[in-house]
Amino acid sequence: MKEKLEAIKSAALAKMQEAGTLDALNEIRVEFLGKKGELTSVLKSMKDVAPEDRPKVGQLVNEAREAIEGKLEEIKKMLAAKQREAQLAAEKIDVTLPAKKPVIGHRHPNSIALEEVEKIFIGMGYEVVEGPEVELDYCNFEALNIPANHPAKDEQDTFYIGGDVLLRTQTSSCQVRVMENQKPPIRIISPGRVYRSDEVDATHSPCFHQIEGLVIDKKVTFSDLKGTLAEFAKELFGENTKVKFRPHHFPFTEPSAEMDVSCFKCGGKGCRFCKGSGWIEILGCGMVHPRVLTMRGIDPDEYVGFAFGVGLERIALLKYEIDDMRLLYENDVRFLKQF
Ligand code: DAH
Repeated sequence: MKEKLEAIKSAALAKMQEAGTLDALNEIRVEFLGKKGELTSVLKSMKDVAPEDRPKVGQLVNEAREAIEGKLEEIKKMLAAKQREAQLAAEKIDVTLPAKKPVIGHRHPNSIALEEVEKIFIGMGYEVVEGPEVELDYCNFEALNIPANHPAKDEQDTFYIGGDVLLRTQTSSCQVRVMENQKPPIRIISPGRVYRSDEVDATHSPCFHQIEGLVIDKKVTFSDLKGTLAEFAKELFGENTKVKFRPHHFPFTEPSAEMDVSCFKCGGKGCRFCKGSGWIEILGCGMVHPRVLTMRGIDPDEYVGFAFGVGLERIALLKYEIDDMRLLYENDVRFLKQF
């Protein structure tokens, strides 16, 4: 019996020594100590041992079990440590590898230009206000001295929502809304989207942007208008920019003018950019028509005003030397990422 137990013990120890994984080790445990294991079967055969020998044999079996269990525990710890080490090695991250850079977009050239214009006027004490794109015919035309059959309405054909509601053709409609809600002195600019039923080409789009300006106070003169817009042009296009006012007609201003800036590309000598003239047309402006003030309940004998309207795309195209307006709307990232 003793030899048999010794044989079992050394067989178990030898096998465990060779176990490479925890699973293999567990199989060995079952093989020797499990219900049908070799050591267990020795225990089961105790009934065949003479009663006086049983304590001795029992002690031998226990010794063998303890030896096997001790070794089992020892090897189990060793294998678990090995396994953990392998796992850590496999999961190791190299913190010195360069990180993936997030792709960050940036503002559209229209937005960059608008922000620049807003900054200039805010610097001169203007407030930025916005008005609705879906507008009443009354605010877009009627209250701007453009009655139902006025030819200006034909030039600014738009999309009609129905009845007296339309998509505004000009941010000048904001003049009406501001005068409705604010008492003079008024000094605002109002940027936003406007609509016209125009075909798309290099210089036209059915939807574009304007920035309206309106100043109403007691002693406002045409000189103030000129000075303000000349300063605006210098800040936007450079210190040496000159301005020129040409007489024009707008129903809501009297007198009205269009302002040109000296070509910032050639300095006024004439080049391809300014089509040889040395000047570039940039905005419409004028002194607010007394009738426009009267319709809003502002006394034209007490208050005077000037107004102007700039096309935002026009500024973006000029500033960034873009030759086709469609590029601003196509959202081709290869184009947009240049700005
Ligand atoms: N609303 C005009 C347009 O769309 C631009 C304009 C001209 C606005 C003269 C004004 C102004 O406020 O005084 O053509």
